[in-house]
Amino acid sequence: MRVLVTVRAGFIGSNFVRYVARAHPAWEILVLDKLTYAGRRENLTGLEDHPGFRFEKGDIGDPEAVANVLPGCDYVVNFAAETHVDRSLYDAGSFIMTDVYGTFVLLEAARRAPGLKRFVQISTDEVYGSVETGSSTESDPLLPRNPYSASKAGADRLAYSYWATYGVPVIVTRASNNYGPHQFPEKIIPLFVTHALDDIPLPLYGDGLNVRDWLHVDDHCRAVDLLIEKGVPGETYNVGGGNEVANIDLTRRILALLGKPETLIRRVADRAGHDRRYSLGCARLRGLGWSPRVAFEAGLRATVDWYRANEAWWRPLKEADPAFREHYHRHYEG
Ligand code: NAD
Ligand code: TYD
Repeated sequence: MRVLVTVRAGFIGSNFVRYVARAHPAWEILVLDKLTYAGRRENLTGLEDHPGFRFEKGDIGDPEAVANVLPGCDYVVNFAAETHVDRSLYDAGSFIMTDVYGTFVLLEAARRAPGLKRFVQISTDEVYGSVETGSSTESDPLLPRNPYSASKAGADRLAYSYWATYGVPVIVTRASNNYGPHQFPEKIIPLFVTHALDDIPLPLYGDGLNVRDWLHVDDHCRAVDLLIEKGVPGETYNVGGGNEVANIDLTRRILALLGKPETLIRRVADRAGHDRRYSLGCARLRGLGWSPRVAFEAGLRATVDWYRANEAWWRPLKEADPAFREHYHRHYEG
């Protein structure tokens, strides 16, 4: 089997490629990654010797780059995206170009690839918008409320349209907030863990009562792997961790794990268009035999330990990377 994974160097993509190499050692793994600020060469180590592994630097929005890797693949898994909601508030254009237009370029190549068995579009629970009560099921309306989630919703339905119109064997996944090793330190868990390690105040938005459902990245990888083989083309699958936690409680847990005081919590202005809560009903995926395995308490502890042990990975990103510094200054200090 030959699988094309767009991206290798980001958070979930890097975990997924490692997962596939372990779970399917005989598979050929082709990777296309633009290596944006979130795609770290530091995440690339360890697989170069894997037989059948090939890395191409390129943009999913570039038809030539896609033509170099997609034809002949059995499976495509599209993780490539601009992913940070806060950045989308300042620069929606790059989200539309990668998340929507880039997905379109991949889908166009996919419809000219007759042997393709599955095209997995990695969408997000954020496409449902804010869920005040109950849980979202796959047939619920999409009501995205920020440029990131709106561009992901566009790609989500565009992918579906290539199934409905051209018969491309598309599967859409909508996962909840992932956590684990190698997440760029702009998202809440790695930002707060690494800030707390340095005794820097943790910027908690608004009243801190927004709720996210935390999914360990390994559980997400297992779900995608299962869906590559067992997912039904044309279907959408929610992938939730079943760990709904308010941001203030998450922050307190992180501080407790690090033995740091709650006086480090700093209330700051709320995010514009901040979705209050996400919650997923996952009966469809559970029906295929999947359930999350990583308990949140243990997963969070292991993640905190990973950042503690891998300062050499995150410190240069926070202190010297212009992409981090510029965003941090504009968003938190500007
Ligand atoms: P990330 O920001 O850590 O990594 C994004 C990756 O995409 C990087 O490797 C970057 O170089 C690459 N990339 C960006 N633009 C590209 C382009 N035009 N062409 C090729 N590569 C490009 O992201 P992540 O958190 O690992 O998320 C991966 C996917 O999972 C995204 O589609 C995201 O929407 C989805 N998702 C993420 C979460 C989460 O909590 N992180 C939850 C649900 C869904
Ligand atoms: P984030 O990690 O950006 O993921 P998403 O917006 O995709 O859910 O944010 C998770 C939650 O943490 C969200 O409710 C916003 C909140 N948050 C803060 O309170 N402070 C911060 O500095 C960040 C980055 C996020």
